[in-house]
Amino acid sequence: MDYRFPLIEKLPPYVFAVINQLKMEARKLGEDIVDMGMGNPDLATPDPIVDKLVEAARNPRNHRYSASRGIPNLRVEISRWYERRYGVEIDPETEAIATIGAKEGFSHLVLALVEPGDRVIVPDPSYPIHSFAATIAGCELIKLPINDGPEEMLAALRALEYPRSQQPKLLVLSFPHNPTSVCVEPEFFEEIVGLARSRGYLIIHDLAYADLVFDGAKAPSILQVKGAKDVAVEMFSLSKSYSMAGWRVGFCVGNRQAVAALTRLKSYLDYGIFQPVQIAAIIALRDCDAYVPEIVDVYRRRRDALIRGLASAGWEVPSPKGTMFVWARIPERFAKDGSLEFAKQMIARAQVAVSPGIGFGERGDGYVRFALVENEHRIAQAVRGIKSFLNS
Ligand SMILES: Cc1ncc(COP(=O)(O)O)c(C=O)c1O
Repeated sequence: MDYRFPLIEKLPPYVFAVINQLKMEARKLGEDIVDMGMGNPDLATPDPIVDKLVEAARNPRNHRYSASRGIPNLRVEISRWYERRYGVEIDPETEAIATIGAKEGFSHLVLALVEPGDRVIVPDPSYPIHSFAATIAGCELIKLPINDGPEEMLAALRALEYPRSQQPKLLVLSFPHNPTSVCVEPEFFEEIVGLARSRGYLIIHDLAYADLVFDGAKAPSILQVKGAKDVAVEMFSLSKSYSMAGWRVGFCVGNRQAVAALTRLKSYLDYGIFQPVQIAAIIALRDCDAYVPEIVDVYRRRRDALIRGLASAGWEVPSPKGTMFVWARIPERFAKDGSLEFAKQMIARAQVAVSPGIGFGERGDGYVRFALVENEHRIAQAVRGIKSFLNS
């Protein structure tokens, strides 16, 4: 039999897999590749969180199926966290749901909110699932430019004109933004909320990099805008702020109808995050604020080392104000071959793995993304490789 799976045909193989493969082949040949490709945090989860997991895992009561939408105490802690950080009131019963990481929560949220044929607006480039969740759900994508900053995106959004019956259903945003590292001010969200209200779409804001901001910058929550809960939900992830990427914990808060829709869909799909992980996540949100600046400082030092190093190799790249990424325009003389070819060259000639910008969308093709997941010593090694590649 020759089966066809039309949905899967709409999902191209991850471009990142190509780079990964090359990286593994080079490593097999004994080359020491500095891996700044995937944004996979390398820092240890703070001890109190790990200790609580171990303790909770020893209790057989926690071995059963848990609550798909998150245990009540976790949802209460999520709402306290929002109040403390942003002064935003969240009802833990109706306005908060725990998710198996932001990625799972986001993709199922999109699936819960749309019908095939709906239009979904998303910046290009973007974190891949931000556009592919809509593709998986059978939607049409409207892509907004963002490489030049929030104003560019906002102007394109303002200019979108549709008759009421054909208005887009969703607007997907995420600031600080992966991969471009674009950050926004609260006024940006005020205008966005106004636009959503007048045009009738719902906003999903992914605040995964809420804490990863540098040099005194602050990342606002969209829910700080008065009345935002009428038109928006926000996702958060414990993966970055608390170095808990493998644990798979995130949450979604805000608009009740959207939270209820996700809750309903997930009640069919899963039995919740392993309960000891939920209990440990309570400790993260309640007791681990003090660890966050230390984690952020590690990323800041790596950012500075990389930006300085690239400049010394003659590659001038703006220093990001947020995220754990450096979004670097490909040097002029390599630009015409595109980002995938350049990323291949980086492995072969600089022994450094980066993500080709094309993997984040067509408008990403002039760029590569460095993830700050190698230590400063390894970054110095990467810079030596890049210097010798670019100056050869
Ligand atoms: C914008 C954004 N959202 C979500 C995630 C993944 O979050 P989680 O680990 O909670 O699924 C990432 C990971 O790179 C990301 O860049």
